[in-house]
Amino acid sequence: MRILGTGSALPQKQVGNDDLSKFLDTSDEWIVPRTGIHSRHVISNEYLEDLAVSAARRALDDASLGVADIDLLICSNVVNEYVTPSLSCIIAAKMGLACPCFDINCACPGFIYAMDMADSYFCCGKVRHVLIVCAEEPTRMVDWSDRATCVLFGDGAGAAVFGEGDNLKGIRLSAEPSPDKICEMRRLLPTPYVDKEETEMPMQMKGRDVFRFAVTTSARDINDILSRTGLSLDDVDYFMIHQANLRIIDGIRERLGVAPEKFPTNIADHGNSSSASCPILLDECNRKGMFKKGDLLVFSAFGSGLLSATAVIEW
Ligand code: COA
Repeated sequence: MRILGTGSALPQKQVGNDDLSKFLDTSDEWIVPRTGIHSRHVISNEYLEDLAVSAARRALDDASLGVADIDLLICSNVVNEYVTPSLSCIIAAKMGLACPCFDINCACPGFIYAMDMADSYFCCGKVRHVLIVCAEEPTRMVDWSDRATCVLFGDGAGAAVFGEGDNLKGIRLSAEPSPDKICEMRRLLPTPYVDKEETEMPMQMKGRDVFRFAVTTSARDINDILSRTGLSLDDVDYFMIHQANLRIIDGIRERLGVAPEKFPTNIADHGNSSSASCPILLDECNRKGMFKKGDLLVFSAFGSGLLSATAVIEW
């Protein structure tokens, strides 16, 4: 498969570090050196589904395709206001898409997990065009009195349209299941029969463990996938790393020994938007005209699960 178009949409409200220190015991001086984040886009009066639809429409426009051309919609999402139907159904209804659609919840690597699924559909000839939409609102998952988590996240949606081609050179999904490393729990509705103890808990994260997992897994998988596809680090034009933390991105880059120019970032004014981060970065780079035909892009992302995923795709 190959990328035909990209799109993204962000909430209007931007919250700077100094805004946070008005109600939280934190500071720009603490946040910036540890994360690289100066501000983040936060959902206020918008609905996530509308951001998702805007991103998807922009990706279709960029690909010069219409809704009737899309054979499958995959939406990557961890949480939104609907329990059912899936966010992909809500997006499809708003856009007038009538193709099969489903959601995946693979947390931050969701874009690459969705690419892997799309690739399987292309390989067995079931589709000609696939729309992937990643829409996330992690700012609704954190406790805004917990300075260790709420300063890290931002919201948004990113989308990409894929068509037939042989541009996907390789993909590697990995998992180290450890649900306690990043975890949020919600209580379901009571029934006359449930008498077990149930927990409701905003997002908790073992930051240092996640940091270590991200850097080691991503660097390992990038080296592994390049050697399996007969490519070298020098062949890669851009490393599109999940925008979780600038120090994580720098850690991966240092392990690989690659120049910073090959690592585009937008973390400074976006924060971590979970699975939306890679397609938002992709769209922003695309709209800046950074990519030329034949450029080699490596995507790598990691997150709750713990899951990680890496893909090599030619522009
Ligand atoms: N402002 C000020 N102080 C803060 C703070 C904040 N926003 N967040 C935490 N602290 C404090 C802690 O309370 C702790 O204080 P104490 O020593 O008095 O207990 C101190 O800073 C150190 O906390 P610690 O959690 O050990 O900091 P750290 O150096 O590990 O940095 C992260 C924390 C979250 C920045 C870092 O672990 C990280 O980036 N992890 C990866 C997180 C991530 O990207 N997750 C998503 C992946 S998809």
